[in-house]
Amino acid sequence: MSNSTGQGNLKYSTGWQCPSNIALVKYWGKHSNQLPNNASVSFTLSEAATRTFLSWEEDLGSDALKLKFIFEGRENPAFEGRIRRFLENITEPYFPFLKSGHLSIETSNSFPHSSGIASSASAMSALAMALCDLETMITGMTPGSSAMLRKASLISRLGSGSACRSVYQTAAIWGELPSLAGSSDEWALGLSQEVHQVFRSFHDDILIISPEEKSVSSSAGHALMEGNPYAPARYKQANERAAKLIAALHDGDLDTFGKITEDEALTLHALMMCSDPSYILMKEGSLSAINLVRQFRTETGIPLYFTLDAGPNVHLLYPDEYEEKVSRFISSFLKPLCHEGRIIKDKVGDGPVKIS
Ligand code: PMV
Repeated sequence: MSNSTGQGNLKYSTGWQCPSNIALVKYWGKHSNQLPNNASVSFTLSEAATRTFLSWEEDLGSDALKLKFIFEGRENPAFEGRIRRFLENITEPYFPFLKSGHLSIETSNSFPHSSGIASSASAMSALAMALCDLETMITGMTPGSSAMLRKASLISRLGSGSACRSVYQTAAIWGELPSLAGSSDEWALGLSQEVHQVFRSFHDDILIISPEEKSVSSSAGHALMEGNPYAPARYKQANERAAKLIAALHDGDLDTFGKITEDEALTLHALMMCSDPSYILMKEGSLSAINLVRQFRTETGIPLYFTLDAGPNVHLLYPDEYEEKVSRFISSFLKPLCHEGRIIKDKVGDGPVKIS
C-alpha cells in the first residue's frame, strides 16, 4: 500500500495477484445481473493467475471516472473498453470514490493470452480485490475482513460470474444451497476449512488440446440454456451434486469426488450438444484423453479424474502422492494429443495474494 499525502492530492496504490479456478460442479445458465441458476463448486488454482496494480489519485474537480489501462505493458483498447464499461457500472453503487479521481490499472497474466486458459476469472477477481483494498485505504475499513472478501466476490461476479469463486483459497461454492448456511447467489463462500487434506494439494494438469478461441462464447452458452428443455432438471441436479460434492470434499471421499466431477464435465458438454442450435466444443483429442484417463484408472486403481471447462482442454485432477506415476502416463499417452505437446501444470492454491 502507499498513500502519498505530500503537497497535492491524496494518492493510493495497491497490487493483487489472483488465481483462476476450475469448476467441479458447473455454473451454466444465469439470470438477472449475473445471478446463477444453480450452485457451483470449484477448486482455486495457483499457477494460472493475474497480477493487477491499481493507483488512484484524487481529483476533486472531477465527477466522472478517469481511466488509464495497460495490459502486459501496452495499451489494449479491446480490454480497456470492457474494463471501462464494468467500472462505469459498479462506480455509483459500490465505489463512488472512483468518480473523484484518476484510476490507473496495470495488469498481466502468468499465462499467455491465447493459451486456451480462461483469464476472466483471475482478471476480474484481481481487479475486484484491488478495488476493495483501495476502498479500505480510502474509507478506513478493515482490510482483509470477511466483509471485504464478500464484497470482492460480489464485484468479481458482476465482472465474470465464475470469477467470484477465485477470491477464496482451496475451494469455494457460489449459489444458494438450502443445506449450507451463508451460501448465496450474490457472492461465493470459501470452503477451505471444510476441505480434507487430500484435496488441498490436488493437482490440475491442463492438457491444451487446442489453444484456439472457442466457437461459442460462455455468455452465448449461458443464454442458450434459456431455451434448453433439460434446464429445470439440470439446475436441480447441479444443486444436489453440489451438496454431495461438498460432503465428499470434507470426508476426503475420492470416489464420490471423481464420479461427480466427471459426470459434471460430461453434463456441461451434453447441455451444449442439446442446445438449439447445438454445438460441440470437445475435439477428437478431448475424447481420446477422456477414454485413456478412464482406462488408466481402471487398470491402475490410481484416482486420476478429468474435468472440462467450456472448451476442448482436459483438466486432469489427482492427489499429490500419485504425481510421478501420473506424469509418466501423461508424457507417454496424453502429451501426443496436446497442441504442440502443451500441458499447463497447476495445483489447488492459497487464493489471492497482495503484492504491492
Ligand atoms: O463465468 P463465465 O460466465 O465465464 O462462465 C463459466 C462457465 C464454466 O466455466 C463453464 C463453468 C464454471 O462454473 O466455471
